[in-house]
Amino acid sequence: MNRIMKTFLSAVLLLMVCVTDAQQMAKAGNAPEEKIRSLISQMTLQEKVSLLHANSKFYVPGIKRLDIPEWALSDGPHGVRAEINRDDWAYAGWTNDSATCFPPGTALAATWNPRLAYERGIVLGEEARFRKKDILLGPGINIIRSPLCGRNFEYMSEDPFLISTMSVAYIKALQSKNVAASVKHWLANNQEEHRDSVDVNMSERALREIYLPGFKASVTEGGAYTVMAAYNKFRGDWCSENEYLNRQILRKELGFKGVLMTDWSAAHTTIKAALTGLDLEMGTDKKDYNEWYFANPLIKAVEEGKVPMAEVDEKVANVLRVMMKTKMFDESNREKGKMNTPEHQQAAYNDAAEAAVLLQNNGNILPLNFNKITSIAIIGDNATRKHCGAGLSSEIKTLYEVTPLDAIQKKFGATVKINFAQGYEKQSTFKEGSNTGQTSADKVDWKLIDEAVKVAKESEVVIIFGGLNHDFDTESSDKQSMDLPYGQDVLIREVAKANPNTVVVIIAGSPVKLSGIVHRVPSILWSWFGGMEAGNAVADLLSGKVNPSGKLPFTLPVSLDQSPAHALGNFPGRNLKVNYEEDILVGYRWFDTKKIVPQFPFGYGLSYAGFSIGNFSTNKTSYGKGETIHAKCTLKNTGSRYGAEVVQLYVSDPVCSVLRPEKELKAFEKVFLQPGETKTIELTIKVADLAFYDETKKDWNVEAGEFVLQIGNSSRNISKSVKISVK
Ligand code: BGC
Repeated sequence: MNRIMKTFLSAVLLLMVCVTDAQQMAKAGNAPEEKIRSLISQMTLQEKVSLLHANSKFYVPGIKRLDIPEWALSDGPHGVRAEINRDDWAYAGWTNDSATCFPPGTALAATWNPRLAYERGIVLGEEARFRKKDILLGPGINIIRSPLCGRNFEYMSEDPFLISTMSVAYIKALQSKNVAASVKHWLANNQEEHRDSVDVNMSERALREIYLPGFKASVTEGGAYTVMAAYNKFRGDWCSENEYLNRQILRKELGFKGVLMTDWSAAHTTIKAALTGLDLEMGTDKKDYNEWYFANPLIKAVEEGKVPMAEVDEKVANVLRVMMKTKMFDESNREKGKMNTPEHQQAAYNDAAEAAVLLQNNGNILPLNFNKITSIAIIGDNATRKHCGAGLSSEIKTLYEVTPLDAIQKKFGATVKINFAQGYEKQSTFKEGSNTGQTSADKVDWKLIDEAVKVAKESEVVIIFGGLNHDFDTESSDKQSMDLPYGQDVLIREVAKANPNTVVVIIAGSPVKLSGIVHRVPSILWSWFGGMEAGNAVADLLSGKVNPSGKLPFTLPVSLDQSPAHALGNFPGRNLKVNYEEDILVGYRWFDTKKIVPQFPFGYGLSYAGFSIGNFSTNKTSYGKGETIHAKCTLKNTGSRYGAEVVQLYVSDPVCSVLRPEKELKAFEKVFLQPGETKTIELTIKVADLAFYDETKKDWNVEAGEFVLQIGNSSRNISKSVKISVK
């Protein structure tokens, strides 16, 4: 063969190879399931199992031979966590892993603005990709059942509808950036005390109506690619190997085709976990990764015929499917990511600004006119404390964190004399698994109080920054009480006596008792843990540059014993068992049904503007069970400032064969209006969503009859009602 001929033939051959590859690629692109099957068919059992457990704290190995990349996971819900060493929990000391830190979950929910949840998902996705992460371990969406749960701050709400709305937006945005969400903790992880051993029992109705909807929406509407099984047991079985939760509900009913992973060290067995639908083992506390439940013991179980190969193949398929959905086999078309852009920081600011809830503003003390004030006392540890870096798995090594004192000094320090006093004891002795950070938390320090009183007397206005810190709102332990720690009640009382122009800003992520202070100070602003932009946002809220528009995502009880789990004495359970006896009456469902007046109700929050809701109507008065209700109302800004109101639509079913909550949130919308502006708001509810879970029928049931639709701006402030009937 001459040279020309040879060249020609090799060109043809090359072309043929390219065409076959291209055809295969195109085929694979159109049929990812075929590619998954083909890859699995090329794997040894050892290789398959290697994809089902981590080989370091946050990585799962790939298979080089088959071009299957390593999988990189990272915490957490409100920022991408700094890099951790592969084989221990120390931080790796990288210099490019300072991230954007958002206000945690309860703050996000307090914005009642799903657009912000979406914006957050985008930022988290971009930063996760910048860090070359494939899975972000969030959102955390467990129901806030008790004010004491240490992780309430990471979660969102006591209401499943509010959780679902925010979670779906977050997940869709995050995953649009080719990063898988891991919605957690599946399921009923509503306390930290004994979280790794407690057995949770609840009725089927409570499961279906309260604890499941957030997860259901995250999977079916949000399309979450992964789910994290909780530490606790559910009805006698660990969540990581719970046939009912994992096979029946998650896989069968919700049609979940993604990866079910354990929480870190939440696997307990090989065979049972393998047979009940777990895919991925993470964080097990055994040094040799080969000894993990889903490592050599799984290989052995398959070889001995105790776990069918088909089960292993299904798990591997789930893993590969998530890899494909996040474009791990298509790196050139994958999101490249970016970190700490001005847009990211703006998003963190927006959340903090929209989350703050104005609880009280007697005499319209707020907003403060800093052009007129000549001196101000800033008191309290939370005026200077940075919170982003604490709370355990959700802690963020943030690029910066602006404290309230920093921001007030920067914005107003040139013209206003700022007198700072510590006010209460600075404590942070928290250690994982202990409550050391909370001991002597009720200590009253008179020396600090006297100093605070002195600066209060010397100043025109006082702002006390109090509340909690992550010694209290933290993973791994619950709060011991709902009290404001460090003698803050006494501090606030004494300062308010010295200067009645005292504003209290509460920085906390879970309910605290305010009954000791509401009658002592005119104004209270709840500004949450505010993330990296906390100080800037709170300064703008206090000065009126931003009008508060947050609403409580949970009920704020007067005292702990008002709260359902505590009123019934079933938190945190006995002998490692907890029975959710309050059933479906969680949060405002309990308070409103039992007619208990809380300190501040669910959905509540004031504004510097005023709003009135009018003309509430529905498109019809009678509906069939398959129909949709179209409700309408007008909202008018009756104040003199631009601001937002959250119009909330609750439904009650006054005559029903079972007890129903007094009312339940079914729709809401946050609306921004100029002074004097009026807007017509349209809200829709499917009649099917008025159903209760009927334990006798084992199905949802909308009983024909009358329903009352109530529109208002909190669960306790209903402006108008309309009756409809369902045929
Ligand atoms: C937490 C998870 C977290 C994981 C990894 C666990 O202790 O419960 O929420 O994602 O650790 O840090």
